[in-house]
Amino acid sequence: MRTLLITGGCGFIGSNLVRYCLKQGYRVINLDKLTYAGNLASVRDVENNPSYNFVHGDIADTDLLRKILAKEQPSGILNLAAESHVDRSIDAPDDFIQTNIMGTYRLLKATLEYWENLDHPAKETFRFLHVSTDEVFGSLDPEGYFTETTPYNPRSPYSASKASSDHLVRAFFHTYGLPTLITNCSNNYGPYQFPEKLIPLMIISAFNGKPLPVYGDGSNIRDWLYVEDHCEALVEVFEKGRPGETYNIGGHNEKTNLEVVQALCDLLDDLRPKGYNASYRDQIIFVTDRPGHDRRYAINAEKIQRELGWKPKESFETGLEKTVKWYLDNQWWVKEVTQGKYNLERLGLGNRREGTGK
Ligand code: NAD
Ligand code: DAU
Repeated sequence: MRTLLITGGCGFIGSNLVRYCLKQGYRVINLDKLTYAGNLASVRDVENNPSYNFVHGDIADTDLLRKILAKEQPSGILNLAAESHVDRSIDAPDDFIQTNIMGTYRLLKATLEYWENLDHPAKETFRFLHVSTDEVFGSLDPEGYFTETTPYNPRSPYSASKASSDHLVRAFFHTYGLPTLITNCSNNYGPYQFPEKLIPLMIISAFNGKPLPVYGDGSNIRDWLYVEDHCEALVEVFEKGRPGETYNIGGHNEKTNLEVVQALCDLLDDLRPKGYNASYRDQIIFVTDRPGHDRRYAINAEKIQRELGWKPKESFETGLEKTVKWYLDNQWWVKEVTQGKYNLERLGLGNRREGTGK
């Protein structure tokens, strides 16, 4: 049984990936700092699985990393630990610099030390997969797509910190030969996403009778991918990707934000009707735009399809329906992860706060 170290496994994509990898027959060590976005409730269903082990800690803690690597002897690392919310990076960038840049750097350093001392054949098959974002490429005009060779042009503190971590990962491949892989993925949605992000925020606000705040005029475009499709793609890249390569992952689902919110309202109108002639669409309001709001993201995912045979299984319609039903059925989870931490308030208006990053 091969062991994987997954970092950030109590977050949105990480918890779905932990579950997916256990189903694929891997042994999984989940290293997570349990920030506001990381919650043990998101992995409660696997906590007693004998192939699963949780370690509470920071990817920037070199001593801890050395201990975990020496003890668990993983055949690969999938790095998902990060500060992930653009709006929070506008208000308080420090933690983004600390975790996304310094944390990734320390993880790379400890991994290199571990990898250099591995014996044959573990050394040849070891992989370090860094999970990144399409936001590193910047903002698109109405035409065109991000490919793996699109020049980096990050425009928020979040995307700049992710771009920086991607560069460090690539540098460790070219300079030291560490067998790294990078994936740049579009917007994910699905179960266990923290309710600060567009889709869960709108679902929860809608059924709580709150306004649905669309930034600007709602015409910014994102390319949506169901989280389980992303997890499948990550394991494909981890198992079959060529070291040193980058793979773009996308859902072929370009939608304006207003289209997304309206689709959610229509689903809720079917699943939880408000009553005669009333619609959740009535709760939509237009609010001050996000500072520096990227206009459009769209992924060309031909490389991963051509080379690794991956393409998404879920359509936006089927994925969105599953997601809405999941949030309606799992309101205990929403309550548990938000309590005392987040009250669905607006973030990212640029009211800068001190971060905790040192
Ligand atoms: P998330 O915010 O839901 O989860 C991040 C997890 O990392 C949390 O469990 C948190 O506790 C943990 N973490 C934060 N700092 C840590 C540290 N210093 N040490 C250990 N753990 C730490 O994020 P997500 O949406 O699941 O994103 C996961 C990764 O995928 C991120 O790297 C993100 O940049 C990338 N990504 C996300 C999306 C998306 O749409 N959500 C798309 C493309 C790429
Ligand atoms: O593209 C991949 C990225 O997608 C990931 O790297 C990030 O980690 C992830 O958070 C996501 O970033 P976005 O900024 O695109 O996601 P968010 O859910 O914050 O916003 C999606 C769009 O919806 C964006 O154009 C802003 C808009 N929005 C968001 C919120 C929270 C609104 O209109 N209203 C809102 O209340």
